[in-house]
Amino acid sequence: MENSLDYELIDFGNGRKLERFGKCILNRPEILANKPKTLSNEAWQKMAHGQYSDSGKETGKWININDLPAQWLCEYASANKQWTLELTPGKYKHVGVFPEQEKHWKYLEKHVKPGHRVLNLFGYTGASSLASANAGGDVFHVDSSKSVIKWAARNAQLSDVSTIHWVCDDALKFAERELKRGSKYDFIIMDPPVFGQGKKGVRWKLENLLPQLVKTTTGLLNKGGILILNTYSPVVSLEEMEELMVKNSLNCTKKGWLSVSIQDGRRLNLSKYTIAKG
Ligand SMILES: C[S@@+](CC[C@H](N)C(=O)[O-])C[C@H]1O[C@@H](n2cnc3c(N)ncnc32)[C@H](O)[C@@H]1O
Repeated sequence: MENSLDYELIDFGNGRKLERFGKCILNRPEILANKPKTLSNEAWQKMAHGQYSDSGKETGKWININDLPAQWLCEYASANKQWTLELTPGKYKHVGVFPEQEKHWKYLEKHVKPGHRVLNLFGYTGASSLASANAGGDVFHVDSSKSVIKWAARNAQLSDVSTIHWVCDDALKFAERELKRGSKYDFIIMDPPVFGQGKKGVRWKLENLLPQLVKTTTGLLNKGGILILNTYSPVVSLEEMEELMVKNSLNCTKKGWLSVSIQDGRRLNLSKYTIAKG
């Protein structure tokens, strides 16, 4: 698949990946990059603007190797769709976009039609929301972090998109309220984090929450509506994801890994997904 995001995976291996996001090259940890890398340490060091140094679970820091900017822009352009994301060397190793999710953006661009209602739960900086809004969808973007919602709204502004409804709330709580209100959606996309902060700040593990999330969102789907579930969890398997769909009487039409490829043909699998029809 030709990249529409201005992104390139340059090399990966030995637990790290070297990637270019727009004008910036970053060296980040990647637990799934478990084979040997191709380029030398010196080549990585010479190319990278910044490196994330891991110092344990969800902690670490960015090292400025060569003029690592505090913020920069990264463009997405596919056919007549174009949008812009503001990136930053951010919390944990994240920068503001998950490039492997381009497959979902392309799916939404193709299938969302003007007037379709789209719910993006755990929406982060808004890439799926922008893809859906650009296709004419009426998009509800939900994230529990105020600063992340502001970031997503800046991305929409940079992309000349003014139609997205921003909801700063717990995803499950919002979905449950929507269910009570009788709201329906044509597309629901959710990418819940492996660990999260739930109602009243209670910590949850994805594998415990997933059945409830899928059950509630299934209730929000219009007949023939689509649920896209994505996860980076190492303990939730594709088979379990599919089982959850079947248990909720959804027809799982697609499942697999989201990956990024490198010019030499190697592929790095990063997250699992299912697409199911109501
Ligand atoms: C893995 S990111 C999602 C990435 C997104 N799919 C994308 O590609 O841009 C997880 C997001 O979930 C949000 N989040 C964490 N716990 C949440 C909760 N209980 N309710 C809503 N959002 C939550 C975080 O603030 C973060 O933005």
